[in-house]
Amino acid sequence: MTHTASSLIVGNWKMNGTSASAATLIGEILDGAAALPPSVALVICPPFTLLDRAGRMIEGSVVRLGAQDCRAEPKGAYTGDVAAPMLADLGVHYVILGHSERRRDHFETDAQIRAKAEAALACGLTPIICIGETAEERDAGDAFRRLSAQIAGAVPAEFGADAAGGVIAYEPVWAIGTGRTASREDIESTTAHIRQALAAHLGTDDNLPRILYGGSVTARDAASILSIGTVNGVLVGGASLSADSFLGIAAGAAGSPS
Ligand code: PGA
Repeated sequence: MTHTASSLIVGNWKMNGTSASAATLIGEILDGAAALPPSVALVICPPFTLLDRAGRMIEGSVVRLGAQDCRAEPKGAYTGDVAAPMLADLGVHYVILGHSERRRDHFETDAQIRAKAEAALACGLTPIICIGETAEERDAGDAFRRLSAQIAGAVPAEFGADAAGGVIAYEPVWAIGTGRTASREDIESTTAHIRQALAAHLGTDDNLPRILYGGSVTARDAASILSIGTVNGVLVGGASLSADSFLGIAAGAAGSPS
């Protein structure tokens, strides 16, 4: 089962981690995760090479496993790629799709991301679809239009918050890995816009996908971000590589000091 908890704290390890460092990090996360209330759900997304090992370590715990990408086709002659059913077979529950680093480095389009999300849903994975504007788009007053276009292009028509549902991660490109978090006001107004755009795209106000914020989230600002009504969790890059900061962010969601 994927999580139904009110706050989803997702760690995107990106291209980091060896078997030794992952063992230490996951061990420390498991120690701290036991103390979190059930309203806070933790997901770790290690690179493909560590999914199997990580899955064995978190078995029976409250922590869930996510991957960082998948291919839309279920199998075939696609050297170097990984299919959604292969992830499901490993016990993976979530898959990050359309991260801005993949859009930038692998030229992923909204249509490809949508096809990947459909493939993920078809084998029971919960897609976490990333959207976000660049600094130029925000400065030009074009952020909301850009986000609506990404939702229209990348989000499958069947994408609710229930078992067949998914998650949207709002990650302003200029906030990723820069140490520059969007302001509380910007996150508030932008996630409200995203909610509206999702409702328009999906043709319903009910059962909308959960919305995460991502971009330089730290334990210092997590509680404030997570107190925004339209934010249901965070997608954390750099700060997810240390158990202290990842658990500190989760403690912010729990409303308790770390
Ligand atoms: P960051 O990355 O927290 O290091 O900014 C977030 C992300 O890319 O998902």
